[in-house]
Amino acid sequence: MRGLDDLATPAVLVDLDVLERNIAGMAERARRAGVGLRPHVKTHKSVEIARRQRAAGAVGLTVAKTSEAEVFAASGFDDIFIAYPVVGADKARRLLELHRRVRLAVGVDSAEGAASLAPTFRIAGQRLRVRLKVDVGLHRVGVAPERALAAAREIAALRGLELSGVFTHAGQAYAESDPGALVALGRHEARAVVGVAKRLREAGLAVDDVSVGSTPTAPHAMVVPGVTECRPGNYVFHDASQVSLGSCRLADCALSVLATVVSVSGDRAVVDAGSKTLSSDPLRPGGVGHGWLLGRSGRIERLSEEHGVIRVGDDERLRVGERVRILPSHSCLVSNLHERLVGVRGDEVETDLAVSARGCVQ
Ligand SMILES: Cc1ncc(COP(=O)(O)O)c(C=O)c1O
Repeated sequence: MRGLDDLATPAVLVDLDVLERNIAGMAERARRAGVGLRPHVKTHKSVEIARRQRAAGAVGLTVAKTSEAEVFAASGFDDIFIAYPVVGADKARRLLELHRRVRLAVGVDSAEGAASLAPTFRIAGQRLRVRLKVDVGLHRVGVAPERALAAAREIAALRGLELSGVFTHAGQAYAESDPGALVALGRHEARAVVGVAKRLREAGLAVDDVSVGSTPTAPHAMVVPGVTECRPGNYVFHDASQVSLGSCRLADCALSVLATVVSVSGDRAVVDAGSKTLSSDPLRPGGVGHGWLLGRSGRIERLSEEHGVIRVGDDERLRVGERVRILPSHSCLVSNLHERLVGVRGDEVETDLAVSARGCVQ
């Protein structure tokens, strides 16, 4: 059996006990709320971890990219939602291939975007299931709730498409410094999209799926009556941002980076994990730094590509050659930077987890 000392650094570790607990915990929450759990797999991009989520009861998967959907479809996942406004005839042709093999749904947020997909399906005599994205305050993509009916009517009128649902993502939760506010935000997210679904149904449009969720808001949004599905992603690993937001405890963090101290000078130490390992995503909501040293007081203060620079406290010393474990600010980006994650139990290496959909951006 290999141990942590046998690993070359930097290495991305996944604590399998914590991973399994996180997967089971969210599955149980969704079961109790009576909603389907469709985890966003952009967090891990790993077929093996998605299989564990499916075994725990996930009704299907969420992805952001057509290429991610292709990887998971090729690995036997047969119910996939691309929660992103996919646009363009080139994508439509790939979606048609996917649609022939899996139960597929795709996000849309404009009639123009939807119209770029519809002809390919119409000509093939097929209908692509689409869900309308509703903006509940992130102001990234999605239509404002008051614009949703008009947009839905235009989209539903396009031959080759079937408007099957509505969805939202309250990503503004990541800027929320008061953990108590997450409850209200989750409720707001869900009520807004449930309200849109009601108005669309009253106007004669069939809306089956009412889908919500981010890791910080999922527990609060999924319990609102009318919600049918929840799509958290980050919950499998969590990270320093989730701890800072108050949406999990340190003990709930499954992913860490094992690194070696390569240089020490005064109150500064440098590890062999820089932005190519940890990503340069900052700590949220508005914190400083790029990761925490586990079991120590040090923080990664700044990064360059291959260097993580730590300000060492007066009370501790780091030695060249010493190994440390770093809790990254944003775990989703870390997995995307690595081909394999190392599954560990305690200090023992149990398995390698391939990041099969790594780098799938098209
Ligand atoms: C549309 C959509 N749904 C779900 C998620 C999952 O959210 P989280 O990573 O907070 O779990 C994301 C994350 O970016 C998203 O963009």
